[in-house]
Amino acid sequence: METKILSTSEYDIALAGEILKNGGLVAFPTETVYGLGADALNDESVKKIYIAKGRPSDNPLIVHIAEKNDIFPLVKEVTPAAKALIDYFFPAPLTIILPKSDKIGNTVSGGLKTVAVRMPQNETARALIKAAGTPIAAPSANTSGLPSPTKAKHVIDDMEGKIDAVINGEDCDFGIESTVITLASDVPTILRPGAVTKEMLEAVIGRVEIDSAVLEGMKNNETAASPGMKYKHYAPKAKIMLVHASGEKYERFVNAKKDAFALCFEEDNITIPKVTFGRKSDDASQAKELFDALRQLDERGAKKVYARIPNKNGVGMAVYNRLIRAAAFCIIDLEKPFTIGLTGPTGAGKGHVGKYLAELGFHILDTDIYARKVCEKNSPYLSVLADEFGNDIIENGILNRQLLADRAFCSAEKTAQLNAILHPAILELCRKDAEFPSILDAPLLFECRGNEMCYKTIAVIACAEIRKKRIMHRDNISAEQAQARMRAQKSEEYYKANSDFIIMNDGSDIKTQINTILEEIL
Ligand code: TXA
Ligand code: MG
Repeated sequence: METKILSTSEYDIALAGEILKNGGLVAFPTETVYGLGADALNDESVKKIYIAKGRPSDNPLIVHIAEKNDIFPLVKEVTPAAKALIDYFFPAPLTIILPKSDKIGNTVSGGLKTVAVRMPQNETARALIKAAGTPIAAPSANTSGLPSPTKAKHVIDDMEGKIDAVINGEDCDFGIESTVITLASDVPTILRPGAVTKEMLEAVIGRVEIDSAVLEGMKNNETAASPGMKYKHYAPKAKIMLVHASGEKYERFVNAKKDAFALCFEEDNITIPKVTFGRKSDDASQAKELFDALRQLDERGAKKVYARIPNKNGVGMAVYNRLIRAAAFCIIDLEKPFTIGLTGPTGAGKGHVGKYLAELGFHILDTDIYARKVCEKNSPYLSVLADEFGNDIIENGILNRQLLADRAFCSAEKTAQLNAILHPAILELCRKDAEFPSILDAPLLFECRGNEMCYKTIAVIACAEIRKKRIMHRDNISAEQAQARMRAQKSEEYYKANSDFIIMNDGSDIKTQINTILEEIL
């Protein structure tokens, strides 16, 4: 089929109206996204929309009207809440759902008993509906699953050859689809957030709820209040991952990535290939540019994309709702660091494993280093130690280690008191420095409860003979001295009982063991 490219002239709109009247498909601009229209009262025409888009037949369409009163024949009843919303908002980027009248066929409603109705703000859209002389059923004019079209070019890319005509109008003002609110439930509920926010709606009709699928996605076995929610959406070919982090952390994380793109705000300082979607504190600009940005990523051949998470307030909620679907709900949370604990007895080769993990890009949190930091000159923890073990253990801000050792190691009780101060202090410093992903390298991982800040734990063990040789060689000591040190350590069983994974470092290939574990964890 040849797809006519029409202008927004009166002549072309009249022509497009004729095409619709005669059962054809016309894509047209609205203030939200481009729509793919057919005569809503003609089931045969509406079926063509599903075919052109590759849309599942149980996903209903929005019916577009040119005048407020045009809603009456389409619904059973215009309820008081519906009347209030229509009077206050229409024409608007707002779709309301009500029980349908018999005029609405099963193809438009996807088999549901309700119908979604919207009166667009865009002048071209309304002129077209008038020219057609019938309400127009119109989903977004993209191939199902792809980002919605916000420019005529996007529509042509997806629909050329599959539909009768495209009206080549302006870029869409809002850039994300309308807010969808159902008034067919007990409490009015937002099924899809958009430019008309919850606060704006509540100011007119009182309490409004947000469907749980808006921010969290559907759980298995749940029936969708809005069938569109259960389908894959807005997804470019690239794998998108949302990165939850403050600006600087996001930049540091993303700039270290190879073979990846950033999907970020204009202000972000990014050194890898990037596509931006609006400005940081301007959710309207993010909404306007998001779908185009997703399409650009495909054009540039992006495979892996790390996206900045927008603020979820106001219109930001709508941006977040689209982006999280484009990412198939994949979020990397840098604020909740993903840390893996690494431990093991002396001589087993924990350091060796740590080195390889560092090569793989893990940030190493070495508790030995943080233990020194806790006790260094002017450390805020020194006064806590002084309170417990006497003010004279500190001279001019410097810790007298010998004196502390004398007082702390004279009894098991005193040693426990020392640990009760040092261990939380060490972990607090580690937590502050944790990045995504980190290794908490701690000989006493379980004793100091460092495992509680870890997602998973790994212990490195080796047989006694091998460990003894390693310790003698490493510390240049006798077999007896090495043996004495080993006796002070926990048994192999202890590590096996407490760790999620064990690496046996007795000559077998540790890299393969580590890779297998990481594959399971990640
Ligand atoms: O801004 C927009 O709303 C654009 C422009 C073209 O007007 N249209 C649009 O349509 O986004 P579409 O089909 O891409 O999205 C309509 C959404 C789908 O998620 C669908 O499941 C839901 O609205 N929907 C439609 N009728 C419904 C109904 N009766 N009950 C529940 N959800 C409904
Ligand atoms: Mg759509």
